[in-house]
Amino acid sequence: MTKRWCVRARHTALGCAALLFWCASQASRAPAQEPASTDAPVEWSASERARVLTLAPLPPVPDDLTNPVADSLAAARLGRALFFDAGLSRTGTVSCATCHDPELAFADGRPTGRGLADLTRNTPSLLGAAWQRWYFWDGRADSLWSQALQPIEHPDEMGSTRLQVLRHVAGKETLRAEYVALFGPLPALEDQARFPPQARAVPAQVGDAQHQLWRDMAEADRLAVDRAFSNLGKALAAYQRKLVGGPAPFDQFVEGLRQGTLGNPAPISLAAQRGLKLFVGKADCRSCHNGPTFSDGEFHDVGLPVASSGARRDSGRFEGIQKLRADPFNAAGIFSSAPKGERASDIDYLDSGGETWGLFKTPSLRNVARTAPYMHAGQFLALDQVLHFYSTREGARPAGHHGETVLEALFLTPQELLDLRAFLESLSQPDPPAEWCRVPDAAGQ
Ligand code: HEC
Ligand code: HEC
Repeated sequence: MTKRWCVRARHTALGCAALLFWCASQASRAPAQEPASTDAPVEWSASERARVLTLAPLPPVPDDLTNPVADSLAAARLGRALFFDAGLSRTGTVSCATCHDPELAFADGRPTGRGLADLTRNTPSLLGAAWQRWYFWDGRADSLWSQALQPIEHPDEMGSTRLQVLRHVAGKETLRAEYVALFGPLPALEDQARFPPQARAVPAQVGDAQHQLWRDMAEADRLAVDRAFSNLGKALAAYQRKLVGGPAPFDQFVEGLRQGTLGNPAPISLAAQRGLKLFVGKADCRSCHNGPTFSDGEFHDVGLPVASSGARRDSGRFEGIQKLRADPFNAAGIFSSAPKGERASDIDYLDSGGETWGLFKTPSLRNVARTAPYMHAGQFLALDQVLHFYSTREGARPAGHHGETVLEALFLTPQELLDLRAFLESLSQPDPPAEWCRVPDAAGQ
């Protein structure tokens, strides 16, 4: 059902109307015997109103000074071509869009991702990715462009190598022309003695012969390959900066509240308004899911139940910080166009002590109704399960260790749970413009 709606609700008035109808019909799934009070208009105190106004509208996409082509249209077009191109994978079968499917809000609908093999983490939606401060659940990338390089070489995702993807770009006329126009010539890949096709920069195992080929390359040649590889990431980032949906019904509601013209009916149902009141009030979700992205950009341990699979506990932010520091493509590195900028200096201030063990990034809640399953390992299949968990803390690990002490059982009533869900559903945005949601045509448009 969600899927059909995503496809239908474009930027049109029809889409918005369909969305409102959909939200209303969700809310009307509440038990038939609702207390009469649920029809009462929702009143907003001055302090509640002030808190709600901090949640919308979304500001313009923030600058990324580490990426000189962040806002280039030509780079976004090249990035789109790369995003949908399975030729970037070792087997020619996996593209970014395999896991970040435009029809599924740029996620995959699975508890954990699946590329060349099964992954251990849930695939996040890419809608609004440009507003994030850190990337991945553990924040091991600090820019959209450096993030994009990792799945390409991850053995379980696309399993390729930087030399192979550059050869792919060089061998495909449209890609090569667009690349050269933006970034200048590619390295002399045809010289196989200097650029061995089998060379692999990231060792697959100790004593990896393909990695040795990489080590044996001239330093200047390795640098040229790394630079060209980072350029592909920068084009992919320029593309993902276009993945911005239109205003959600919630945004329209906040605008009405700001102007004092809520309209009748209001852009979101009474149930959603009551849910919003809980969100900024009694349930205090806003202490972490704050601002127009509904995320503080920080890392927390919400005490999720221990995975039944008995898999090794995921250390989250703890290893995330170590990996970020070691990443040659981080904002402070030589491939960044702002190596002394704010993003770069943030790396020095990260506290990498034991208290970061098991922390995960606060996800945005925009479009959350479209991106089930939930949490870093897809622990919950549906929103109702997430809300049940926050309400009862059933199965939660005790807050001991480094767990978040602010989270206590909320003991919400069935009606309150429905209201919160209706509110979360009001955060679904119409899709980005259609041209960014599909495979480019033969002419690259
Ligand atoms: C095999 C499935 C798969 C493929 C292919 C894949 N991704 Fe992902 N993506 C994931 C998963 C799973 C995560 C979360 C991983 C983690 O946090 O460790 C993720 C995370 C991300 C994030 C971070 C989002 C956030 O909110 O932190 C971005 C951006 C992203 N991917 C973009 C891409 C791009 C661009 C490509 C292609 C170059 C790509 N992905 C290929 C599954 C995939
Ligand atoms: C202490 C900070 C904190 C508070 C308070 C908090 N959250 Fe979260 N929320 C998080 C973090 C962190 C995650 C990801 C946890 C993980 O995967 O390990 C998350 C995940 C979620 C998700 C899943 C999103 C997704 O894409 O997977 C939903 C939905 C959610 N929270 C809703 C709420 C609601 C509703 C409330 C209030 C009842 C709330 N949160 C309170 C930090 C918080």
